[in-house]
Amino acid sequence: MAINAGDSMMRASNRASKARGARANATLPAGFAALSKLLACPVCGNEEIMVDVASRALHCVSCDVRFPWIRCGSTHIPWMFPDPELTRLEWKARYNGFLQSNSAEQARLKKGLGESRNSIAGRRRINRVLKGRKKHREQVTRLIAPLELRDLDWPADSADLLHRKLPRNQGLSSYTSNIFRDWAWDNGENEALLIALERVLKADTRQNIGKTLTLGAGACRLPYDVHRKYRPELSVAADINPLLLQVASAVISGETITLHEFPIAPLNEASFAVEQKCRAPASDGSLDGENFLYLLADATSPPIAKHSFDTVITPWLIDILPQDLRAFMPRINHLLPEGGVWLNTGTLAFFHKEVSWCYSEEEVLGMVEENGFEILSVERQPVPYLQSPHSAHGRVENVLSFCARKYDEATIPQSYHYLPDWIVDTSQAVPNSADIVVSSSSHLLSAQVLATIDGKRSINQISRAVASQYGLGTPETIQAVKRVLVDAWEENCFEEPDPDI
Ligand SMILES: C[S@@+](CC[C@H](N)C(=O)[O-])C[C@H]1O[C@@H](n2cnc3c(N)ncnc32)[C@H](O)[C@@H]1O
Repeated sequence: MAINAGDSMMRASNRASKARGARANATLPAGFAALSKLLACPVCGNEEIMVDVASRALHCVSCDVRFPWIRCGSTHIPWMFPDPELTRLEWKARYNGFLQSNSAEQARLKKGLGESRNSIAGRRRINRVLKGRKKHREQVTRLIAPLELRDLDWPADSADLLHRKLPRNQGLSSYTSNIFRDWAWDNGENEALLIALERVLKADTRQNIGKTLTLGAGACRLPYDVHRKYRPELSVAADINPLLLQVASAVISGETITLHEFPIAPLNEASFAVEQKCRAPASDGSLDGENFLYLLADATSPPIAKHSFDTVITPWLIDILPQDLRAFMPRINHLLPEGGVWLNTGTLAFFHKEVSWCYSEEEVLGMVEENGFEILSVERQPVPYLQSPHSAHGRVENVLSFCARKYDEATIPQSYHYLPDWIVDTSQAVPNSADIVVSSSSHLLSAQVLATIDGKRSINQISRAVASQYGLGTPETIQAVKRVLVDAWEENCFEEPDPDI
């Protein structure tokens, strides 16, 4: 039997019911009375979402799916993904990926430490990074602990769940530098971005920006600065990455979070691994948990009721979503009432496979107007971006900011799925393409070369074994085999696992 979203949620719900007795004293989390009125079910779209304090979940009264919330100190963050269990499993896989690459890195550093050619300074540097990597592993593990990932298991048949899969490029550590930029570096970048936004916001003549939603809020410095400056009645910061929102909620409620930074181009020995203290910028910098709230959700199908926010902010988001911007814009329109404002800032660095989705500034602005918005102001402004004080690397980005007011409804397209139907439905034909032919022969060669390795054969011997199957000349085969082995070596496939980790 296929296990669908409802089934897996029922299991979660049953587990929750068992725990209910022990949680009888649970109270309504701060801000949830207001927040639940703004939400819609990401499965069926119903806008009646109840807060079930006893089972610690938000509950769709129409399709009966329950969305748990995760805790970070005194803050609670709803986990509003269409299949909450599947999404937790995906973050478990990402966390495991983080642990594996951390272990591989530690093994590489330990091996490097033992090399006789190290100078004293070299040994000190490697030791510093090794200690940093160990601590970083503990720090991330502690931050992610409220997700309770350890005991999760994949259901036997998860085909149906694949429809809601998150893109692979959104990893646990994808935007760690943004955490330091937001809460540790104090290098003027956040102020510059706020100014870029303020310049276009001047065209908005409303008295107040009203209820404000930031999609792709990351580590939340921009929504925090906007909240402190414009005092909206409510701010909601939404992102798909639980690590970023865990850090943000801790810092914004007044905690200091310690996390290691490993700059790309360290300035000196001390910069190779830097223990950063992430904290709100001023001693009075914490915000009231009643009206600055967080939401774990996918912006491509936001679980937000129609017309429920007065302002929507998309900072550095619209070009990185794995979706045609043409399909995303009507969703933003849907969240705002007439007169509501969409504020965008960031680059237009689209990297889609589909060339037709990689829009120019002119196309983007034209599309804004086609989707029921009137552009009130638009500006390009250079802002510093990820200029770590410990790294020689850093960029200046000429960001495009605009302020657009909704005057008409746009038509919402069908809900968006990242994976094509022929992957989800295992009975459909897999389409053929020229890329697949090229990719399969190169994978085949890699598989044959790697399978021939037995710890005794040399490159010349492996090449002779492979050449006969491909009808290639010897020098040509040796080059091809070397290329496969260089790739494997660069991916650390020849490292021995470290028994201590
Ligand atoms: C380039 S970062 C920008 C983060 C933040 N706005 C800033 O300026 O630092 C993109 C952010 O979008 C988030 N994100 C990516 N895909 C998303 C999705 N489908 N729904 C919601 N957030 C998403 C990422 O986790 C990340 O925090």
